[in-house]
Order: sequence, then C-alpha cells, then structure tokens
Amino acid sequence: MIHTPQWQALLAHRSSMSGAHMHDLFVADPQRANRFSVSAGPLFIDCAKHRITPTTVDLLLKFAAARDVEGWRARMLNAHAINTSEGRSVQHMALRGSGSAGATAEARATLDAMRRIANAVRNGSWTGATGRPITDVIHIGIGGSDLGPRLAVAALVPRGALPRVHFVANVDPHELDDALHGCDPASTLVIVISKSFGTAETLLNAEHARLWLAGALGQDLGRHLIAVTGNAEAARAFGVAADGILPMPDWVGGRFSLWSAVGLSIMIALGEAAFDDLLAGAAELDAHFIGSPLAANAPVLLALLSIWYVNFWGAQSHAVLPYARKLDLLPDYLQQLEMESNGKRIDREGAVVKYATAPVIFGNVGANSQHSFHQMFHQGTHLVPSDFIVTMPGDDARGRMLAGSAMAQTAALMRGDRADPDALPGNQPSTTILMPQVDARTLGALLSLYEHKVFVEGVLWNINSFDQPGVELGKRIATHLAPALAGGAVPDDADASTRALAARLAGK
Ligand code: F6P
Repeated sequence: MIHTPQWQALLAHRSSMSGAHMHDLFVADPQRANRFSVSAGPLFIDCAKHRITPTTVDLLLKFAAARDVEGWRARMLNAHAINTSEGRSVQHMALRGSGSAGATAEARATLDAMRRIANAVRNGSWTGATGRPITDVIHIGIGGSDLGPRLAVAALVPRGALPRVHFVANVDPHELDDALHGCDPASTLVIVISKSFGTAETLLNAEHARLWLAGALGQDLGRHLIAVTGNAEAARAFGVAADGILPMPDWVGGRFSLWSAVGLSIMIALGEAAFDDLLAGAAELDAHFIGSPLAANAPVLLALLSIWYVNFWGAQSHAVLPYARKLDLLPDYLQQLEMESNGKRIDREGAVVKYATAPVIFGNVGANSQHSFHQMFHQGTHLVPSDFIVTMPGDDARGRMLAGSAMAQTAALMRGDRADPDALPGNQPSTTILMPQVDARTLGALLSLYEHKVFVEGVLWNINSFDQPGVELGKRIATHLAPALAGGAVPDDADASTRALAARLAGK
C-alpha cells in the first residue's frame, strides 16, 4: 500500500504542505468555504477548516480509487461476505431497506414483530403475570448491544415518558441494582440483548434480573423476559420462552445493530413512528453514500480526511465534540464504532500493516469540553483533528451561545493568534457538522454517516472492519483467573503482578 504511486504522491504532497497554514489558505481562496462543504440528507458538513487544498483532495480521491472504494461499496451492497474472517456479509443497510432481498425481507419481518411488542407494551395491552401493564423496561446488554439504544433513548425520549427504559451494561453490581431500584417486578419487562448470548457480563446481569423477577412472580416469566439474540438455543436454555425471542441476523455487526431488534427498547420508549424516522434518516444517508460521486460523498471525504491526518501527519487521536446535551453519549458510541472496527494491525491478506490505523476516539459534550480539555487543542503539542456537531440555535439565547461557542472554537483552532503564533499556533483542523435539531431522523442520518465513514476507512486501510478478534484474549484470561477471585488457587502461569493482585483481590 505504502509503495503505491497514490500513497507516494500523498507523501510528497504532505511535504509540500509542511509550512502551509489554514489561515493563509483561506486568504488565498475566497471560495474555500463553499469549495470544501457538502450536504448529505439533513446534514451540512463544513470541511474547509482542514489542512487541505484542491490538490490534496484530488490526490486523496485518487487514493480512494486505487483502493477500490466503489468496488467494496458494491460488494457490501450485494451481500458479498466482506467480513472475511467470519464468512459473513455486512448488511446493516438492509435494516433501512438497502440490501439483498433475503436480508430486507428478514428485516421487515423482525420490524413487524418489534411493532407488535412495542405497541402492546405502550398501549397497555401487554400485561405481566399479575395482569398489570409495563411501566419499566430493563435493557441488559453491553457494547453494540447497549451503546446505540442507550444513545438513541437518551437523545430522543421526552422527559418523564412511560414506560421508563433503564440500561444495564456493566457487571458492577451497582448498575443492575440501581436500575431495579424503584421498579416493581409485576410491571417490569427485562430485555436481554446479546448476539452471541455468551457475553459473561450480560448473562450474569440477566441471571440476577431473572432471579429478581422469579422471586416476586414465580417461574412464569413469559411476559417479563424477552431476548434479542443470534443464539435462540442459548436463550431458550436460559429460560426465555420461544415466542419471546427476537433474532439478530449474522449479517449485522453488533456495533451496527441499533436499527435491528437490538433497538426494541428504542421503539418501546419512542413509539414505532419515531423508530421509522430513525430508519428513514439513516436511509437518507445510505442513499447519499450509495449514489454520490466520491468527490461529493460525505462519508468518503470524512474517511479520507482521517487517513490524511493519521497516515500523513501522524495524528493519533480524533475528538468528537457534540454541542448538544442530547448527544452526550455520541463519543461513547463512536469509540466502539471506530476503534472496535478499525483498531487493527492485521490486513485483509493476514499481514501486519506497515502504517497506522484507527486513531484514539475521545470527546465530550460541548461547551463543557471547552472548560476541560480544549486548552490542549489550542496550546498543546499534538495534532488533534476534531468533529464539532452543532444544531441550529433557535431563538433561545442559550442555544445561540452554544452554537456561537462551537463556531468560535473552530475559528480559533484554525487561525490561532497571529500576533503570538508560538503560544497559539492554530492550524488545528476541524469538521463542523450542522444538524437542524436532534430528532430521530437527524440522529439516524448522523449515525449512518459515521457507519459509512468507518466502512470507507477500513477499505482505505485494507482491514476487515467487521470482526473483533482482539477482544477474545482478555476474555480467556478472565475465565482462567476467575476461580482465584472466588477463593481458589491463583494460576501459577500468571505473571507475578497478576498473582499478587489476585491474592489481594481475594483478600489473601
Ligand atoms: O466483546 C466485544 C463484543 O463482542 C462487541 O463486539 C459486542 O457488541 C459486545 O461484545 C456484546 O456482544 P453480544 O451482543 O454478543 O453480547
């Protein structure tokens, strides 16, 4: 890859850009703001505050062509097994209507089953063992079985809405105990979300929740326990009734799954119309990604900017700064989407890559982030590209202050202090993504934008973005060490530090 003419041309171009400052690029090109912005569905995306010129974009697009981005996009759309290590297709777009006939039909059937459950729970016709309607839903899942629904419910559910949805991901006892506090088993529905139905944290939380239900209601939990999984047999063995199991197809990756039955708690919390809007927003961005030429394709441009900084400027992190309280869980969601997808060192041919891949994704809600870590952006020694997600302010002075702060930050980061460039050099790149407001449609569009950006980054880096083999070693060691924390012997093949820690944690 790094010896290709396209990569070498970018390397040479990078050298020619060493002394360039974005402020000067703006002065030299009055059309810069228009030239480097793009609309995609309900989103307006400004990429002008980047260390790029028309030549940069041209060379990046040539690299994208050499990496066959359009060919890989077609393979994904045509249900090729592009998740090669697991022999699976990648069809989260089928959940929004773009995929193989089989996948889109399966998605529609699951959506209908979700509607039946969500409508019954919301209109009170779904009653529990004692005949009472559901007031509380406990969503138990972790990683991709948690982050998307948690983000969507936090962003979209009106204050005080019923039924209440509580999310339980961590196995820390406080998480489930806090969620169950104040809930009545007779009016509580537990939804266990696990594609594998083998994730240790989820199963232990689910077992404790099942015991909590059974302690009050006996063993007939059919109306209080639902599972969403790709492993129906394991869910049945756990005690979920056959008609209480919704499928997770193997052609949807966990971190791409909120649009599937994984999103049942979203539909229960918001209603089916809002869930349809979420899907519609994502479908708009799917259409943009599928139909736009690469030069006007927002996910492609964001992915190309990512490799421009990671692979040619040495950036090792990327900040996500949603200037909207409703999106304060967006950085958490994008950490998994980006870092579990592309935090890899083995390429599609099984070789160790000779270039950097996914950067560290971090962030926080703005304007809070300004009063926390923006100092480092302005005066630190690291290049940190950032995404500012900003909503239209409306006529509330607080909204205007928030939007104005975001705009000011991107200007200051770009320009620096021309009178004291040593102290405040500027030239820190940022993308501004403008959303009309945070609603189901715009959130769907935003998350689809990032899904497709992550897909294109994987193509550019020649890696499989859809497996996660790196997480298995830690799980195996945890299983090996578990007995030591329950009073058993500490494995003597553990290193001295781990042996000492295990002894301390076991109170020895
Ligand atoms: O361990 C990582 C992971 O497999 C993620 O990819 C996934 O989203 C999460 O754990 C939960 O997995 P499951 O849905 O199978 O419980």
